[in-house]
Amino acid sequence: MPGELNPGHHQLAESCDACHREGFGGGEVLDEACLDCHGEERVKPVDSHPRTKFSDPRNADRLEKINALECVTCHVEHRPEITQKDGLTQPRDMCFHCHAGIGDDRPSHREMSFETCKDSGCHNFHNNRALYTDFLVKHMDAPPTAARPRVPGREFAEVVEEIMEYPRDHYPVEPLGAAAKDAPLDVLFSVRLWRQWLETAHAQAGVNCSACHQQRDEQGELGPWNEHPGPEGCVACHGLEVQRFQQGKHGMRLAAGLSPMTPAQARLPMQETAAHEELDCVSCHGAHDFDVTRAAVEGCLRCHADEHSLAYEDSPHHRLWKAEVAGEGEANSGVSCATCHMPRIDFDVSEWMSRTMVDHNQSANLSPNSKMIRSACIHCHGLGFTLDALADETLIQRNFSGQPTVQVRSIDLARADQERYQRELEAAGQ
Ligand code: HEC
Ligand code: HEC
Ligand code: HEC
Ligand code: HEC
Ligand code: HEC
Ligand code: HEC
Ligand code: HEC
Ligand code: HEC
Ligand code: HEC
Ligand code: HEC
Repeated sequence: MPGELNPGHHQLAESCDACHREGFGGGEVLDEACLDCHGEERVKPVDSHPRTKFSDPRNADRLEKINALECVTCHVEHRPEITQKDGLTQPRDMCFHCHAGIGDDRPSHREMSFETCKDSGCHNFHNNRALYTDFLVKHMDAPPTAARPRVPGREFAEVVEEIMEYPRDHYPVEPLGAAAKDAPLDVLFSVRLWRQWLETAHAQAGVNCSACHQQRDEQGELGPWNEHPGPEGCVACHGLEVQRFQQGKHGMRLAAGLSPMTPAQARLPMQETAAHEELDCVSCHGAHDFDVTRAAVEGCLRCHADEHSLAYEDSPHHRLWKAEVAGEGEANSGVSCATCHMPRIDFDVSEWMSRTMVDHNQSANLSPNSKMIRSACIHCHGLGFTLDALADETLIQRNFSGQPTVQVRSIDLARADQERYQRELEAAGQ
């Protein structure tokens, strides 16, 4: 390998052919691989510079300076010495190539350096879903914290009846009694395990031992007992969770057919004690109780040990979380690690159905961090406050204990723009 892979792909170092499919083809061949894994995100309206923007002949001249049709123009690999945050390998002022005249269109931008376009809270190249003018204007007067700050509730149990591929023929959704367990007779297990199963969501919803421990073939016949099922034991009922898990840093090795990720292989700081734990569905959930509360904080801190993660337990957000768990705070008013990193988002499961899903791709909204605005912060905070907080790196390290000390100008600029527009309308007598 000519040089290290970027932090986003370092887990793939044993799988060269994840990107290099046909021997060593150039940019276009590589691009196909990039799009297989990242394609969903690189289209309108998620991406504000999708490839289609540049296949328009009117933009052809712009491509002479920088070929934005190919991913590798801005994301070459194996070059740690030139690789910046988010795998970017172009200089920070790259926007200059296509927007040199911005000062003429927008007088407010005249004095700004091209080094600053990508500052936190200003613009991203790809995802600007929380940063475009209309969005800024819509949210410009919201107070720092909402009157009733809450995130949406989970709803899997309510929508399970509507999930078409759910295996209800074998596992009708109805409570199972102690005697109903269907594990083969020679499987030994403790009373504790049995009770854990019996008293929690799965037995209450008709999910018997075989559902996780025995794969079915196409005829529906049960296969042999698997004592340690991985995601394949869950996929029949939780396909979305498995899919999203495999798209992020927790599950990407499984998706590439490699052994599961372990903290020992991480570049981020991790707890020594968890070094050799393999990442799969039970890493956070535990095998038979599937406790979602423990999964959301204690689960994470068993492995993560960077400054930001360790600071969480002293934060006001953690106080809110403890209050909710203790039944003192309102439902959905707490902020756990998962509230920000595995948010409950609206997800289109088909053309005609969308549901609230816990996003198991904990990389999806991480960077650039403005992606966290829509999926997490805006449920509870005003946009201005959020932009300032997310631009304050020290505050992020302290896991948001304290007020932001940085001020992002985006909302002021949007406000000024809107006022100018109003004046122009009035001047034109409308
Ligand atoms: C995440 C995708 C990815 C993975 C995984 C990956 N590469 Fe690459 N590789 C690239 C990209 C992108 C380039 C740059 C192509 C360019 O500059 O046009 C590249 C370039 C190269 C080159 C230089 C080719 C040339 O024309 O100069 C070599 C050699 C190479 N990779 C070897 C490897 C080996 C060996 C592995 C596995 C150990 C590997 N790569 C894994 C994406 C990847
Ligand atoms: C096998 C799937 C796969 C392939 C192929 C792949 N990526 Fe990735 N890429 C990922 C995953 C998973 C991540 C980490 C999670 C994330 O940041 O979304 C990632 C992260 C990234 C990042 C963020 C890097 C960082 O440091 O945060 C960039 C940029 C990127 N990929 C670009 C590319 C480009 C360009 C190609 C083609 C040369 C490519 N990827 C090929 C799966 C893939
Ligand atoms: C003209 C330069 C340019 C091109 C071409 C480009 N990117 Fe990026 N990419 C960036 C920049 C700049 C960032 C840093 C974050 C941002 O500004 O959106 C980035 C960030 C990313 C990230 C991580 C953050 C995120 O929002 O997901 C991924 C993944 C990524 N690019 C994938 C791709 C893929 C796949 C392609 C090809 C379809 C591609 N990029 C083409 C400039 C480019
Ligand atoms: C390869 C050329 C190219 C590069 C590089 C480029 N842009 Fe663009 N950008 C365009 C085109 C084309 C449009 C659509 C037409 C227009 O508004 O000029 C556009 C539109 C925009 C818009 C208008 C709003 C929107 O989201 O559609 C913003 C803001 C923007 N770009 C910011 C940036 C920033 C910031 C960078 C650098 C990180 C950048 N652009 C780099 C070509 C480019
Ligand atoms: C919702 C899925 C699920 C259901 C239902 C389930 N299990 Fe498990 N079980 C697992 C997973 C996942 C593991 C693997 C844990 C690990 O690898 O650490 C496991 C592990 C086990 C083990 C071996 C390890 C241990 O903890 O002792 C036994 C024995 C077992 N299960 C028996 C049962 C029996 C008996 C039932 C029914 C009463 C049952 N399971 C129901 C998912 C399930
Ligand atoms: C036969 C279908 C089925 C299988 C297989 C299955 N589950 Fe479930 N799971 C359900 C249903 C139905 C619910 C909703 C129960 C409720 O809250 O009423 C659920 C709920 C959950 C919950 C939320 C629990 C809560 O307290 O809200 C978690 C976490 C979970 N499952 C994880 C898993 C994991 C991990 C596996 C694989 C080891 C798995 N499930 C396998 C059907 C299944
Ligand atoms: C990094 C920790 C972690 C891993 C790994 C993980 N989960 Fe979860 N999962 C959580 C947390 C935390 C929640 C609850 C989040 C919340 O309350 O919003 C959750 C919730 C769920 C739910 C309930 C979803 C709903 O909408 O009610 C299901 C089902 C589930 N997980 C299945 C899985 C499956 C299947 C896997 C393996 C592919 C898995 N989980 C791996 C942390 C994890
Ligand atoms: C069994 C250990 C383990 C558990 C449990 C765990 N993680 Fe991770 N996490 C990892 C490893 C390993 C990585 C990959 C780090 C790397 O590639 O350098 C990771 C990566 C991440 C990243 C970085 C993603 C990126 O794209 O850079 C975030 C954010 C994260 N985890 C959040 C969480 C949260 C939130 C929880 C609990 C809900 C959690 N993790 C539970 C081991 C764990
Ligand atoms: C209020 C939201 C919020 C909470 C709560 C939160 N985080 Fe984060 N986390 C963030 C943001 C924002 C970033 C930085 C993203 C960026 O700017 O690159 C981040 C970054 C991370 C990273 C990546 C660090 C790196 O250096 O790449 C990990 C790992 C992580 N968080 C884990 C956790 C864990 C574990 C918890 C709970 C103990 C937690 N976070 C609580 C918002 C949050
Ligand atoms: C479920 C609602 C909720 C979500 C989601 C949430 N917060 Fe908060 N946050 C609060 C509440 C309520 C407070 C005030 C707590 C207090 O003063 O006790 C707060 C306080 C803060 C503070 C000030 C802390 C202090 O010490 O004064 C910052 C900064 C902050 N949040 C940033 C964020 C960011 C950034 C995000 C998104 C990544 C976010 N929050 C997501 C509810 C939330």
